Amino acid sequence: MTMQATALAHPNIAFIKYWGLRDEALRLPANDSLSMNIGCLNTTTSVTFDDHFKADVLVINKQQVTGKALVRVSRFLDRLRQKAKQPLFAAVESTNNFPIGAGLASSASAFAALVVAGSGALGLSLTEKELSSLARFGSGSACRSIPGGFVEWRTNQASDESYAFSIAPHNHWQLVDCIVILSKAHKVVGSEAGMRSAVTSPLQNARIADTPRRLALCRSAILQRDFGALARVTELDSNMMHAVMMTSDPPLFYWHPASLEIIKAIQTWQIEGLTATYTLDAGPNVHVICPQENMSEVLSRLREFPGVIDILKGMPAGPARLLP
Ligand code: DP6
Repeated sequence: MTMQATALAHPNIAFIKYWGLRDEALRLPANDSLSMNIGCLNTTTSVTFDDHFKADVLVINKQQVTGKALVRVSRFLDRLRQKAKQPLFAAVESTNNFPIGAGLASSASAFAALVVAGSGALGLSLTEKELSSLARFGSGSACRSIPGGFVEWRTNQASDESYAFSIAPHNHWQLVDCIVILSKAHKVVGSEAGMRSAVTSPLQNARIADTPRRLALCRSAILQRDFGALARVTELDSNMMHAVMMTSDPPLFYWHPASLEIIKAIQTWQIEGLTATYTLDAGPNVHVICPQENMSEVLSRLREFPGVIDILKGMPAGPARLLP
């Protein structure tokens, strides 16, 4: 017996960041977050359950993967197998069209695609809410790659109630995320280990306590398509998360000198009247967000920076979905 399905999901970039867990076992975040799915960047994953398989197998970008990554995927598949009352092993084959492990949230699109393909293969018809809260167990930010467009994830007391939902569809606002790749290397401290140390920063509690205010500002900036307001809160939120990282024990410095050069340049551009903003995840690459009409100007300025390996571009994108 063989059961197979293929799904596609996009990574997302958070304007209001998730950093730290309130409950590690249930992967309940310390604070609410808000993000946008990034089009053009995607993960495509096929899951095949077969009664001839003797173990789970994981292939990422045509390379067989074992160890920790396989264990993480197997544990995640166990949740689906339990739900479907189906004990079969699976072969998971995943392809990313962007570099993984470089602060581009590859785990978000990976687990979003995995839950959609895995549940599809097992014939489970799960709602968006169920898919999102399940994806969370693979990787927190993966729950935000399930719904389309602009997405909010609430940290709720109950596990089933911590899921992400769309606040506006992808075509609500023609923004572009120009992702400046400064390094393709795997990060030294991944987000899981980094988040664990967030509580050691004296700034983390202040960041969490202020999140409802920033989230409300961000939500209304998006709903009103107010770029100035979005820029202010996005930069503040990214800077606050990196301040927590830098003041954790041990301290984490994800920025490279070139990341800061770009941040400072964007501040100058803003004074000159060029509309763009920045945000950085747990890596040195800078996400430069701008309205679509400014994209070519922003790109030509970004290309002039030394150390820029590549610039990826993505418009707001739709939900994770099964492919025919
Ligand atoms: C900095 O979702 O990768 O990108 O739950 O441990 O898999 P795990 O963490 P992950 O963390 C993302 C952190 C961030 C901010 C964000 O996307 O909100």
